[in-house]
Amino acid sequence: MEIFKTRAEVHTYLEQLKLRGKTIGFVPTMGALHQGHLSLVKAAGEKANVVVCSIFVNPTQFNDKNDLENYPRPIEDDIKKLEEADCDVLFRPEVEEMYSSNDKWHMELNNLDNVLEGEVRPGHYQGVTQIVKKLFDIVRPDFAFFGQKDFQQFVVISYMVNKLGVDVQLIMCPIIREKDGLAMSSRNVYLSNQDRQNALSLFMSLTKAKADFGELSIPQIKKNAIKYLSKVAGIEMEYFELYNKNTFEPASFPQTENIIALVAARVGNIRIIDNMLLSNK
Ligand code: PAF
Repeated sequence: MEIFKTRAEVHTYLEQLKLRGKTIGFVPTMGALHQGHLSLVKAAGEKANVVVCSIFVNPTQFNDKNDLENYPRPIEDDIKKLEEADCDVLFRPEVEEMYSSNDKWHMELNNLDNVLEGEVRPGHYQGVTQIVKKLFDIVRPDFAFFGQKDFQQFVVISYMVNKLGVDVQLIMCPIIREKDGLAMSSRNVYLSNQDRQNALSLFMSLTKAKADFGELSIPQIKKNAIKYLSKVAGIEMEYFELYNKNTFEPASFPQTENIIALVAARVGNIRIIDNMLLSNK
């Protein structure tokens, strides 16, 4: 695996491969890689000739200084995992390489950055779009891979790509779960045994919503989930919503297609998010 730390070097290297007719599959990450990330690397390898992964803990998407400082950075382990997963190129810049001191960014995101994750984490999607656009400009991928776990992030990045006319095909890959259903996340390592148990209630609320879909009304499903989550000790629910996955607006009743349930909660000191498509279409 080739490893680069500067924009110029990785860009030149990849442009040469493109001139030789190679397609590029890109997996942007913040490191602390788990099976979810590695499934994206695998999908990229199946679709493109060259797999590029980036590891960059992006300061502009954190609205909590402690969260940024404490974000796990096990770089040696990550490199080993990427090598084992047959990643071809790793780009791992320092903050100064990606941002200058007077860097400004604000993009109109059609209100997508003001709801759910955007509401709980003000500025988060401005930071995400800022760094993803920079990375796309450097890597110029044919395909870029993101996990369904950050469903809203995928919606926001799709909006940006359409609006700015970026020439890349975005591919969303399924959520990878632990055996008991907990969605994999880099932050899970910080859950105590008890929190880990409590965190499962998010998956349970989604599974129950899916089972009830078609039987109960949308408002009833939401009400039941909120009632259930508010009774679980050790978790503080932030939202449980049913959205239309295409328009990313609250699902209206009656609606039988394109429904996704999205949930977020604080479990101990850690924020956990998860989602599940309820309708088969
Ligand atoms: O999903 C992530 O890990 C990050 O939000 C991303 C897309 C790498 C941007 O920093």
